[in-house]
Amino acid sequence: MIFESHAHYDDKRFDADREELLSSMPEHGIGTIINVGSDLEGVKKTLALTEQYGFIYGAAGIHPSDISDLNEEVYEWLKEKCRLPKVAAIGEIGLDYYWDKEEEVRRSQRYWFCRQMELAREMGLPVIIHSRDAAEDTLKLMKGIHCEQIPGVIHCFSYSPELAEEYIKMGYYIGIGGVVTFNNAKKLKETAAKIPLARILLETDCPYLSPEPERGKRNSSRNLVYVAQEIARLRGISYQEVVDATRENAQRLFAKVNFHHA
Ligand code: NI
Repeated sequence: MIFESHAHYDDKRFDADREELLSSMPEHGIGTIINVGSDLEGVKKTLALTEQYGFIYGAAGIHPSDISDLNEEVYEWLKEKCRLPKVAAIGEIGLDYYWDKEEEVRRSQRYWFCRQMELAREMGLPVIIHSRDAAEDTLKLMKGIHCEQIPGVIHCFSYSPELAEEYIKMGYYIGIGGVVTFNNAKKLKETAAKIPLARILLETDCPYLSPEPERGKRNSSRNLVYVAQEIARLRGISYQEVVDATRENAQRLFAKVNFHHA
């Protein structure tokens, strides 16, 4: 069974057929799913999904583009939710400089990224990190707070193979999704071929980033087959080897996941 480490089934693009789609996951070889909150509403919906489906676990956290949702009260609420048995990670958190160009907003992103990292340390949970157009600041901030003491994954990795190695040295996993199947994704293909298999997690980021041949359509965990196939091809190993290794990696990282379901 495949371990899906990053999905957003709380997204409204699943409203029409969420139940039908999620119920079909086991028969399509999807064993465990981490549904990742990105804003306050998303975290609430994530918690509801974890109650509804045995194989869905949750990540609670606020995405850098949604930090206007954060204040001390919400932070305390998040902390309380982290104690729930099915909240397996803090995320997604991080830095996104793609849309936010103002220094004041970026400073606020760094502040809440730091706070949520500290929350993970305090609660003994791994982190799911989003970093876009902010390679230098992400690495600097993480090194500054001794992130090697906080396990985690760099989700939807989009930087160089060299930077992937830096994160791996600090104990991090690298999340690889649909982009690896794109013809123009040279750097990511190189990363997926070179880094240790023991450091790769499979993820969709659905409804976004559908792999080939579904590119441009709504994504779902069922398309992870194409991602695993491409990683297997790039590394010259079997599809099953990729599925098994990435599942074991995810079980190692997300310790609260009940292995029975994976
Ligand atoms: Ni995401």
